[in-house]
Amino acid sequence: MLSKKMNDALNNQANRELYSAYLYLSMSYYFESIKMRGFAHWMRLQAGEELVHTMKMLDYTAGKGGRAEMLAVEAPKFSWDSPQQAFQHVWDHERAVTGLIKALVKVAEEESDEGTAEFLQWYVKEQVEEEESSDNVLNKVKAAGDDRSALEAADRLLGERAFKFPRGFEIFP
Ligand code: FEO
Repeated sequence: MLSKKMNDALNNQANRELYSAYLYLSMSYYFESIKMRGFAHWMRLQAGEELVHTMKMLDYTAGKGGRAEMLAVEAPKFSWDSPQQAFQHVWDHERAVTGLIKALVKVAEEESDEGTAEFLQWYVKEQVEEEESSDNVLNKVKAAGDDRSALEAADRLLGERAFKFPRGFEIFP
C-alpha cells in the first residue's frame, strides 16, 4: 500500500508526464505550421512516449492499491521563434524532468518504500536516454543554424524516427 505522500507524489509526476506529452504535441503542431513535417513527426512520437510514461505511472499507483487521479494539465506554449528554440526547450524540459524523477526517488526513500524506489529506476534510466536523444537532436539543429537546406536535411532525418507502443500501452497503431 502506498503512503498518502507517495500516492500524491506519483500522481503529480504522472501529471508532469502528461504535460510533457501535451508540450510535445504543441511543438508537433508548431512544426506542422512551419511545414517542417519531419520535426513534427518526431515530436508526435515523443508525445506518444510521454503518454506511455504517464500511464505506466498511473498503472503502478492503481496496482499498488493507491488512487490514480487526473490532475489539471497546464497549457503549454504553442509557438517558438525557431526550430532551435523549440529543441532547446525540449532539452531544458527533459533536464527538469530528470530533477523531478530524482526528487520522487527521494520521496520513496524517505517513505521507506523500496518497491516504489525500485519501480522508479525505470524512469531514471529512461531519463538518461531522453537527455541523450534530445541533446543529439538539438546538436543537429544547432549545426544546421539558419541554413535552410541543412535544416531540411535534419527535418528529413528526424522524419525517419520510428516508435512502437509497448504491449499494453498501445494508443494508436
Ligand atoms: Fe517522461 Fe521525457 O520525460
